[in-house]
Amino acid sequence: MPVITCIDDLKRLHRRRTPKMFYDYAESGSWTEQTFRENTSDFDKIYLRQRVAIDMTGRSTASQMIGQNVSMPVGLAPVGMTGMQSADGEIKAARAAERFGVPFTLSTLSICSIEDVAENTEEPFWMQVYTLKDDDFMQRLFDRAKAAKCSAAVITVDLQLMGQRHKDIKNGLSAPPKLTAKSVANMMTKVRWGLGMLGTKRRFFGNVIGHAQGVTDGSSLATWIAEAFDQALDWDRIREFRKMWDGPLIIKGIMDPRDALEALNVGADAIIVSNHGGRQLDGAISSIRALPAIMDAVGDKIEVHLDSGIRSGQDVLKALAMGAKGTYIGRAYINGLGAMGEAGVTRALEVIHKELDVSMGLCGRRNVDSLDRDILMVPNDFEGRWA
Ligand SMILES: Cc1cc2nc3c(=O)[nH]c(=O)nc-3n(C[C@H](O)[C@H](O)[C@H](O)COP(=O)(O)O)c2cc1C
Repeated sequence: MPVITCIDDLKRLHRRRTPKMFYDYAESGSWTEQTFRENTSDFDKIYLRQRVAIDMTGRSTASQMIGQNVSMPVGLAPVGMTGMQSADGEIKAARAAERFGVPFTLSTLSICSIEDVAENTEEPFWMQVYTLKDDDFMQRLFDRAKAAKCSAAVITVDLQLMGQRHKDIKNGLSAPPKLTAKSVANMMTKVRWGLGMLGTKRRFFGNVIGHAQGVTDGSSLATWIAEAFDQALDWDRIREFRKMWDGPLIIKGIMDPRDALEALNVGADAIIVSNHGGRQLDGAISSIRALPAIMDAVGDKIEVHLDSGIRSGQDVLKALAMGAKGTYIGRAYINGLGAMGEAGVTRALEVIHKELDVSMGLCGRRNVDSLDRDILMVPNDFEGRWA
């Protein structure tokens, strides 16, 4: 068993053990990858204020996200095709999350279906929903999530159009993937991954094939996906989705205070400040930089969560101290999954938990709900004055 002390260790193993096409799919951002890079590097610009001689016993990272108890406010973000990083990847990640006591969010574009995950887990998970044109599919997706006892829906609003990732085009990573001699040769070197894939039937988009009208195989899937995303999306359409789902609702992909106010008006229970991990609008600011203005606009009226760029428990601590009530990790747990399956996701959560707990203590705080800007040293120009 390799010694894993940080998320970077998992990332190195993920790279070694998973086909290049799928590793690159996770470890990339759109166009120049500026936003992808800055999501992470902007966390490094915020410093922590060391305090001493303060009783640090009895610390707790336990909190709540949308009223649900969590052992730390760090959920697993929805990640498409998780089941290609490791066989049955969504089930493995959901199991690791439930054992750890944090929420797991299943992507609409997952490999394992809602029903697959529900049958193989005990605790309710959250369902991510893309804003698609197909009304029939949308209603059925919400109904299936309800039948599977999902305890929240997460509507992603930042993907009316797909951002371009150069590596995916070069690698033939599309839905479904286009296999070339080179990519097949690369896959054959990933023995552990290959054996896992041979041992499962779950290799296609489980929430779509057999559920969307006319989608029965890979080629009809490609046509459906190309047509599915709704470029005409507006807040009235999002209100229609609100009516289709009467449970807790989270709106994901907010980067501007005006959109945060719209999400509030729709009746969401929480918003996620997110730029999709730098995969959509390259050139957008990092989500941690976008957070303060959004907190000012809606922070006292709605729960504000954040993702994009979190690679450590210290990043989580900084986001919480800046006002977020919850955070999510995407690539950090995908690195764990690609490296070591379910045990790798657990290890990612353990690493982040320890970093969060120890850093919180060294800042002189004993629980995550007491965190505030006083533990941070934020550069004066961090929030920027944008013309
Ligand atoms: C490989 C990959 C696939 C993703 N697929 C989805 C998706 O299907 N739905 C969604 O709402 N967000 C998706 N996201 C965005 C994540 O939910 C999350 O916003 C992002 O990963 C956070 O950034 P981080 O990876 O730096 O933690 C995806 C992210 C990655 C890396």
